[in-house]
Amino acid sequence: MSKGFFITFEGMDGSGKSTQIEILKKRLESNGEDVIFLREPGGTPISEKIREIILDKGNSEMTDVTEMLLYAAARAQLVEEVIAPALRAGRTVICDRFIDSSIAYQAYGRELGDCVSAVNSYALGGIMPDLTILLRSDANLGETRIRDREKDRIEMAPDSFKDRVCRGYELIEKADPDRVVGIDARDTVENISSRIWDEVESRRGEA
Ligand code: TYD
Repeated sequence: MSKGFFITFEGMDGSGKSTQIEILKKRLESNGEDVIFLREPGGTPISEKIREIILDKGNSEMTDVTEMLLYAAARAQLVEEVIAPALRAGRTVICDRFIDSSIAYQAYGRELGDCVSAVNSYALGGIMPDLTILLRSDANLGETRIRDREKDRIEMAPDSFKDRVCRGYELIEKADPDRVVGIDARDTVENISSRIWDEVESRRGEA
């Protein structure tokens, strides 16, 4: 049984996850805490290689099922190699995206449905986040924020895909309100970060 605490961040591209993760990281580190920060897809040498294949714009012929399996493969490696041992050792793990990204992007965005959670049950090895911070935004807010940077293969998907991802996140939040805390990404950076801090503090207190 895991003793550590597992926090994931979720949201559309451009929802401000990176900024908030950086703030939380600084805060925990200044408290002298032993925290591991990871990102998906990635976080191990094998998972980083899989990430390159998935996000490569040159791989335009990649099928939706291949994409879904690659995300799950990268996750399986990350869970077994890094997340599970860290939690067993009682550490706090923070991950930029996790299973909910596959549900939102592949099950809803790519419309692959229930097979996504079925496949991912092998990747998760029984591990689920204790707390998921969902930065709620619509497809347009994200689009404005990422307009000026070079887009990867997923960010180049059409608006209809992004609308489905957004809807997917809404349903994930509704389905699991104890774990998933939705915060309006339009709020100020300060308000969002203090809300996140409150959640982290109170949840870890209960754990
Ligand atoms: P990344 O550059 O890390 O995006 P961000 O900074 O917004 O997190 O790229 C990850 C992309 O992969 C992002 O567009 C979301 C997508 N993704 C999925 O489609 N399914 C998944 O399971 C995961 C983890 C990510």
